[in-house]
Amino acid sequence: MKILVTGGTGYIGSHTVVELQQQDYEVIIIDNLSNSRAEIANQIAKITGIKPTLEVFDLTDKQKTKAFFKKHHDLSGVIHFAASKAVGESVEKPLMYYANNLGSLINVLEGMIENDIQNFVFSSSCTVYGQPDVLPVSEEAPIKPAESPYGNTKQIAEEILKDTIKVSNVKAIALRYFNPIGAHESAEIGELPQGVPNNLVPYITQTAKGIRDFLRVWGDDYNTPDGTAVRDYIHVVDLAKAHVVAIRRMLENKMKNDFEVFNLGTGTGYSVLDVIKAFERVTGTKLNYKVMERREGDIEKVWADPTYSNTELGWKAEKGLDVMMDSAWKWELRYRKNLMK
Ligand code: WQD
Repeated sequence: MKILVTGGTGYIGSHTVVELQQQDYEVIIIDNLSNSRAEIANQIAKITGIKPTLEVFDLTDKQKTKAFFKKHHDLSGVIHFAASKAVGESVEKPLMYYANNLGSLINVLEGMIENDIQNFVFSSSCTVYGQPDVLPVSEEAPIKPAESPYGNTKQIAEEILKDTIKVSNVKAIALRYFNPIGAHESAEIGELPQGVPNNLVPYITQTAKGIRDFLRVWGDDYNTPDGTAVRDYIHVVDLAKAHVVAIRRMLENKMKNDFEVFNLGTGTGYSVLDVIKAFERVTGTKLNYKVMERREGDIEKVWADPTYSNTELGWKAEKGLDVMMDSAWKWELRYRKNLMK
């Protein structure tokens, strides 16, 4: 079974390629390397023994994408990660986000339809829920107006999928991620933030490494137990495994509808200070941080109701916060040797 993974040299994409290969799927990656590196394919091979085929081009290029799908018309399915994902950048450059994230999605779907490739797994996000009215948040929760163009591209993408499956043989599963963190236990792959990290955990590990002077904690005046914002952090390997479960569900014709949505979270919310304390506990280091004002656009608290994913998809997150933090730290300590030459 040959699976296309777009964005497969990226953070979640590379971890998913590892899990696919370890389940004996043949993997082809398309990536434009705008936010990742070609040598990640070698790092994947160090884990699995198999170097995935990597085709480097931009999926907004309609002709190249069309030619790719014609050549690989025997694909069994597509897992689509390729997208720009920096919330702040999307506010500054909305047209780039709409053109890139939606343009590439449309080209991939057209390529699939032209070659009767039917199975599509989409990288969505809990950001579609905004600040939910009810917690934990289930798949039935209302979609709220997006807080950023990035979040809006996820919402629009799901609408595009709903319309496309009605007029084609494409079936789609949208996986709504909560907060993916951590790295593969081998420390051969992990998060590779370009420049100053926006996200909490890479900023923590870079601070502990001495690359950043201190962590800024964005607000401690939220209506939460310790005042800092709460998120549902999920180990990236647990998340990756869910993609293999989803593609297998499609290949085994177990879908109940042609468009399905699953929340991928642990069901447990942790505050920023909880994450810091877990990091200090597992690494034995003291983290230098300062509490600052809230960050524009942040929501207060969100965590998943994972019941539907657990029962219907047959997937459950297994790794706890300590493992997430320990793996993130081991990756930080290792990767600058491997990849920052
Ligand atoms: C987590 C918590 C911050 C950095 C976003 C997107 C989501 C996905 C993941 C792309 C918040 C706090 C953070 C820092 C801090 N993006 N924080 N100091 O904002 O929940 O989710 O990134 O796939 O779609 O919305 O993640 O890691 O940025 O923040 O205090 O230096 O950590 O305020 O409470 P977020 P995050």
